[in-house]
Amino acid sequence: MHTEPKQAVKPLLRVLRGNIVFPPPIWLMRQAGRYLPEYRAVRAKAKDFIALCTDPKSAAEVTLQPVRRFGFDAAILFSDILMLPWALGYTVRFAEGEGPLLPPLQPADIDRLDWHPLDSAIAPILETIQRVRSCLDSQTTLIGFAGGPFTVACYMVDGKAAEGFPLTRAFAWRRPEEFSRLINLLTEATIAYLKAQVDSGAEVVMLFESSAGLLSPRLFSDYVTAPTARIAATLRAQCPGVPVIGFPRLAGLNVVRYAHTAGIQAMGLDTTADPEMIKPLLSSEMPLQGNLDPAALLAGGRALAQEVAAVLAAFSGRPHVFNLGHGVLPETPPQHVAELVRLVRSATLPS
Ligand code: CP3
Repeated sequence: MHTEPKQAVKPLLRVLRGNIVFPPPIWLMRQAGRYLPEYRAVRAKAKDFIALCTDPKSAAEVTLQPVRRFGFDAAILFSDILMLPWALGYTVRFAEGEGPLLPPLQPADIDRLDWHPLDSAIAPILETIQRVRSCLDSQTTLIGFAGGPFTVACYMVDGKAAEGFPLTRAFAWRRPEEFSRLINLLTEATIAYLKAQVDSGAEVVMLFESSAGLLSPRLFSDYVTAPTARIAATLRAQCPGVPVIGFPRLAGLNVVRYAHTAGIQAMGLDTTADPEMIKPLLSSEMPLQGNLDPAALLAGGRALAQEVAAVLAAFSGRPHVFNLGHGVLPETPPQHVAELVRLVRSATLPS
C-alpha cells in the first residue's frame, strides 16, 4: 500500500526529473508476460504474439494486468522491440517456443526499408497507448519504448536471438558503410516511432539496448552512444519534458561515457553493474534504475529480502527507480513479485 500522500507529479516522473523519492517508485522490465496466469489466458486466445501486440484491446489488457495485480508505479506498453522492423515491412515471426525469427538481412534489403511508411502499421500500437493511458490513475506513469537501433539490427542481421550475434558483428566490420546506413535508418524510424508514442500518451520512453555489451568501445560509441544521442536530442526538442531512460545492457564501464554524452535523462543498470563502482563515475543527479537480480526474485524468501535491502541501500541518497537488472523470468511465482513490492514499499531509509 502507498503510504505517501498523493502528489501532483507522479512518483516515477518526480524521480526522473532528478528528485529523491523514498521508498523509490517501482516497476519491472517484462512485468507483463508468461509468469502471470492472466497473461497466459489472453495470449492463448491470440493467433500469435504479433496478433496480440496489434490488437489494442488485448494489448491494453495485458499492459494493465501487472499494474492492477501489484500496484506498480508504471505501466509499460505491451509490445516488442521487433515491432519496429515489422512496421517497416520487414518479416518478423515469433515462433512458438523458439523466440523471434527474421530473414537474415542482406545489404540490398536496407534500401527496401527506406521508403516504408510507419504510420498505418503502428496505428494499433498507438491505440493501445491511448487506451492504457485513459485507464491509469493519477499516480501511475505510462512508459513507451523501443529497442536501441543496434539491438534491433542484431535481430535483423542474425535473424534470431543468436548467442553473441556473430553475423551482425562481422557485418559491422566488413561493410561499415552499409551497417551505418542500417543504423541511421533505424535511428530515424525509432525517433518517429517514439515521438508518435509520446503524442499518443506515453509519458516516459525507454531505449532497450540489450546487445550493447557485445561492442568494443569504438563501435559502442558509433552504434550505441551516437544513435542514442540523436534520438534523445530530437525527442528533447520535439517532446520537451519527456524523459528518456537508456538501458545499455552489459556494457560495463562503457556506460560511463554513454551517460555523459548520450543526452539521456536516466540510466537503467543491468544485473552485473555494481552501483558502488558506477555511482562515483556518474553525476549524482542522474536518476538510476535497477538492478535487482531477476534470479533473486525467482528464488524469493531470504535471498530476495536481502537483495532488496542491498539494492535500496546502494542507491539511497540519489534519484532511484527500483527495477530488475533484466526482465522478469517466466518461471517467477507471482507471489514473489507481490512480496518484492511489499518489501520496497515498506522499506525504511537505510542508515
Ligand atoms: O516489459 C514489458 O512487460 C513490456 C513488453 C516487452 C516485451 N519485450 C514483451 C515480450 C518488452 C519491453 C520487450 C523488449 C524486448 N524484446 C527486448 C529488450 C529487453 C530484453 O529482454 O533484453 C528484446 C531483446 C526483445 C526480443 C524478444 N521478444 C525475444 C528475444 C523474445 C523471445 C524470448 C522470450 O522472452 O520469450 C521476445 C518475445 C516476447 N516479448 C515475449 C514477451 C512477453 C514472450 C512472447 C510470448 O508470450 O510468447
